[in-house]
Order: sequence, then C-alpha cells, then structure tokens
Amino acid sequence: MDLYEYQARDLFEKYGVPVLAGIVAYTPEEAKAAAEKIGGVVVVKAQVKVGGRGKAGGVKVAKTADEAFEHASNILGMDIKGHTVNKVMIAQGADIAEEFYFSVLLDRANRNYLAMCSVEGGMEIEQLAVERPEALAKVAVDPLVGIDQAKADEIVAEANFPEELRGKVADALVKLWSVFKEEDATLVEVNPLVRTGAGEIIALDGKVSLDENASEVRHPGHEELEDKGAADPLEAKAKAAGLNYVKLDGEVGIIGNGAGLVMSTLDVVAYAGEAHGDVKPANFLDIGGGASAEIMASGLDVILNDEQVKSVFVNVFGGITACDAVADGIVKALEILGDKATKPLVVRLDGNNVEEGRAILAEANHPLVTLATTMDEGADKAAELANA
Ligand SMILES: Nc1ncnc2c1ncn2[C@@H]1O[C@H](COP(=O)(O)OP(=O)(O)O)[C@@H](O)[C@H]1O
Ligand SMILES: [Mg+2]
Repeated sequence: MDLYEYQARDLFEKYGVPVLAGIVAYTPEEAKAAAEKIGGVVVVKAQVKVGGRGKAGGVKVAKTADEAFEHASNILGMDIKGHTVNKVMIAQGADIAEEFYFSVLLDRANRNYLAMCSVEGGMEIEQLAVERPEALAKVAVDPLVGIDQAKADEIVAEANFPEELRGKVADALVKLWSVFKEEDATLVEVNPLVRTGAGEIIALDGKVSLDENASEVRHPGHEELEDKGAADPLEAKAKAAGLNYVKLDGEVGIIGNGAGLVMSTLDVVAYAGEAHGDVKPANFLDIGGGASAEIMASGLDVILNDEQVKSVFVNVFGGITACDAVADGIVKALEILGDKATKPLVVRLDGNNVEEGRAILAEANHPLVTLATTMDEGADKAAELANA
C-alpha cells in the first residue's frame, strides 16, 4: 500500500525525522485556513500517489493565505498523470539551500535491503540514476542490523556528503530506517531531503510503501491509512466479500481455485483471445479451496457487475472440494443471482468427482452455461463468446 505524502510526513514525525508543518485541505477555504494557521510562506502540494507533482504544476509556493487559496483552487481537481487531485497539503515553506536524495527499499533481486543516497537530489533523480549512476550511492543493508550509526556513516560517506553535514544527515537516516523497520515498509523515499539556509536537514517530500501482508496482524492501525474512496469499486466489493480479486482490463471474466491455476488461466485466455478479436482476461479471481455456493455466487456477482465483461470462464480443479460440490455451487449461485446472471458462462471442471460434477451441470441445463472438457477448449469458447 502506497501512502500519500501527508501520511508519510506524519509517520516521519512520529519517528523523530525532521519535517515541517503540514495540514491537509480539501477545499480552497480549508487551504487558506491552514496557511493562516501555519503562517508565513507555505507551499500548496497536490496529494496524489504519483511522483513528478512539481513538474506537473502540482506544487506551488504561496506567500500569503490568499495566494494559498488561489493555488489550491487551481490544483484541486487537476489531473496529474491520470490521478485526480482531491486534496492538497499546505506545507510550511522551506528555505532550501541544497536538495539531496535518500531511499531504502526491499531489494527483491538480491534478497536484501538497499539504501540509495545522493547529494544531487530533487526532481531529476530518475535522470541522474540513468545518466550518472556513479552519483547515486547504493549501499546494501543487512536486515538483521539495519541502518545503525555505522551504516548511516557509511552511506553518507559513500554519497560524498561534505564533512560538516554528515552527522545530521546520518541522524536522519537512522530515524528513517526506524520508520522502515517498525512500520514494515517496503520503501521509504525522501526526495528532496534538504539543507536549509540555517543548516537544518529536513525531509521535504516522503514516499512510503507499506507491506500489506503485515497490516492485519502486526499493524491494525494501517487499515486507516487505506484510501477506500480511491479503490476500484469492484475490488472494494470483492475485498468486503473476502475474495482475492484483481480487476484487469479485458472482456473475459475469470473464476478459478488456487492462485497458480488462475494465473495460468489468465495466460491461456489471453492466448486464446488472439484468435477472437484480441479479447483479454477481465480479472484475477481465486475463490480458494472451499468453493461453496455462497463464494461462487459472490464471485460471479462481482464479475458480472463489471461492465466490460462479456463472458465468464469458470476453471476449477476439484481437490478437497470435489467437482460435484463445485457444480452444486455453480447451480445454486445461478439460482441466487437469478436475473442478475446475464452473461454466458463456460465451465471447465476436472479432478476429484469430475463425472458427477459434469452430470450435475448437464442436468441443470442452464441456458447460460456451456461445459468444456479441457482448459484450452474452455478458454477458446469463452474468448469466442466474449467476441460474439
Ligand atoms: N515545503 C516546501 N518548501 C519549499 N519548497 C518545497 C517544499 N516542498 C517541495 N518543495 C519544492 O518542490 C519540489 C517538488 O516537490 P516534491 O514534494 O518533491 O514533489 P514531487 O517529487 O512530486 O515533484 C521540491 O524538489 C522542492 O524544490
Ligand atoms: Mg519529490
């Protein structure tokens, strides 16, 4: 889960990372009030979960509260790389002397953590990484040790910070590591980390990604950070029903049991779709081991509510839950859904009690259901129906 900048700022503050005052505002009036409360020069910052807000015109300095009102009116509603701005942060203005870069992230390829740091931070960091990689220090971080004083000293030295700044920057890095570790993050990025005219080191922009696998048990508080309003409505509905659902962009709805089977079903459908007007899978949906009628019904309900869906492919391998139970589930699910079931369903069952399962579906003889014997055949039929 990616956090908004203001949420990252709040977390930083909690761990003692130096930050400036920041207040979220949803309207120009709130922005003005926030600017008055903070006082002096402020910066109006679009809150969207995408980088490059500054370049897109989503970060504006305001010398007065009225100017903050003006900027907020312009920035609210703006589109930044496909993200609509519906809130801004009014941040205390910093007197920036220099901009640096720091991040620590989960380095999956090396099964380790990695810290990156540069004295040349700011808005061009991606370009820097490509054009002058030597200016970006990369230091491996042992997960068991983390960024302690010694590691922080190593990072600032590698990044060539001037002697007189090393102590303060290293201090900030140790605190940023505690955010990363204590909150179970997979990324903590500060760009820019600045030196002010008065010589203070301050985190001016923060990006934090939290590991959702740690949320439920280790961090019940993280749920509040979730942006429910911005979630895809179908994904939100599926989540509420306890389903593993990811919305994709195609026309063939997919239901399967087991993440591996569903993943390969997506591949097979995408491949079959090439022969049928290039239709593609519409979603990932794993209904798990116990494919009960209720789960099947809520899964179908989510998929049939996706306007893009033209057909559905149910691909189930009967294991502990045998095919006859799954077939019963499908028949009952269609009863539960009644008139809401409107799109053709291709069903492929295999595994435990497959004959009994197929017999149940054949007997029910539902007008929307087509039986397929193999996965390829089912994928082809579903793609054909989606393109009809
Ligand atoms: N509170 C602030 N005071 C002064 N300048 C700021 C402040 N916040 C951001 N800036 C300036 O705006 C630039 C872009 O802001 P930033 O928060 O990094 O957004 P993004 O990375 O999305 O472009 C920064 O590099 C900095 O120069
Ligand atoms: Mg930035």
